[in-house]
Amino acid sequence: MLEVRHLIEPTDFSTQELDDLFSLADHVIQDPKRYGSQCKGKILVTLFYEPSTRTRFSFEAAMMRLGGNILGFSDPDSSSVAKGESIPDTIRIVSGYADIAVMRHPIEGGPKAASLYSRIPVINAGDGGHQHPTQTLTDLYTIRAKKGRLDHLTIGICGDLKHGRTTHSLAMAMSRYPGNRYVLISPEELRMPSYILEELDRSGSATYRQVKTIEEAIGQLDILYMTRVQRERFSDPKEYERVKDACILTVEKMKAAPSDMIVLHPLPRVNEIEPEVDQDPRACYFQQAENGMYVRMALLMTLLDETGDFYKGKIVHVNRPMISVVETEICQNPKCITHYEAALRQRFVTLSNGTRLCDYCGAVLEKSKGEK
Ligand code: CP
Repeated sequence: MLEVRHLIEPTDFSTQELDDLFSLADHVIQDPKRYGSQCKGKILVTLFYEPSTRTRFSFEAAMMRLGGNILGFSDPDSSSVAKGESIPDTIRIVSGYADIAVMRHPIEGGPKAASLYSRIPVINAGDGGHQHPTQTLTDLYTIRAKKGRLDHLTIGICGDLKHGRTTHSLAMAMSRYPGNRYVLISPEELRMPSYILEELDRSGSATYRQVKTIEEAIGQLDILYMTRVQRERFSDPKEYERVKDACILTVEKMKAAPSDMIVLHPLPRVNEIEPEVDQDPRACYFQQAENGMYVRMALLMTLLDETGDFYKGKIVHVNRPMISVVETEICQNPKCITHYEAALRQRFVTLSNGTRLCDYCGAVLEKSKGEK
């Protein structure tokens, strides 16, 4: 039986595979009618345990435009999840009904857990504050279209870098292209997690600096990637109130930006981009959201084409050298899915430098006492 491929982390596809995917998205935009029956007879199931507008609708629109069908839920309370059904059991069941699954889950590693029990490809549509790889496909596609390349760029990533899964996925994905420089713009409390900074260090080519204000960076940027402060991820509402207005992009601040800088945002926006900025030709976030549908059309076609190049190499987890199942140790991230789903076994990835990461949520496993 062919081993199905999943998209759980942005680095699960090689850069060559991403190039192929983006070329296919270009073709879809140029001649959409040609692809109108490409997924005829196929069914997409959308399992959204958290709200969404862009990701769910664009996946559903993508499948419809490819001639396929959709089923699923946008609220887990309307499914047997409300009766306590686990992720492994849910995905086992829908594997028999559909050909491909898209899952959004509020807990880090939820879609990864699903992929381990699935007979069909599973696409991570966002897992808690961890990763959002299909948003990153959309971001990379838009950068490539607007800037003509994905390397040697200065990228300002601004806002809630602590909880913003799109910022984590974007930083990881862009670090695989040479010469990229990051300016990470946020208040101290919302800085990028250390596991992402370590990933940038490990890449050997990406450099970064951390600043607190847009003004300190905007004059040097090729791309300004804005994000909202993620209210739903704060345990203390007062802490949210204190930081929510820390970084706001205004028409006044845009005056200091290069004429060819582009502004991206995964959306939804709250107040972090003044509405008047929308009139600036450098504001590309609505185009970015539309691109998401074409990129997802390309992704669905690619993952469903068992005879295509994508499956010939059968490369699974290209950046994941060694997976070990270590049941005697547990992930120390309290937001990891392993603390919520009783059936899951602990799994750790061992990197070439000996560091062990949880295979579900990416958290670094602390060394036990006496371990060097
Ligand atoms: N960018 C994004 O994930 O938007 P939704 O939450 O609306 O899907």
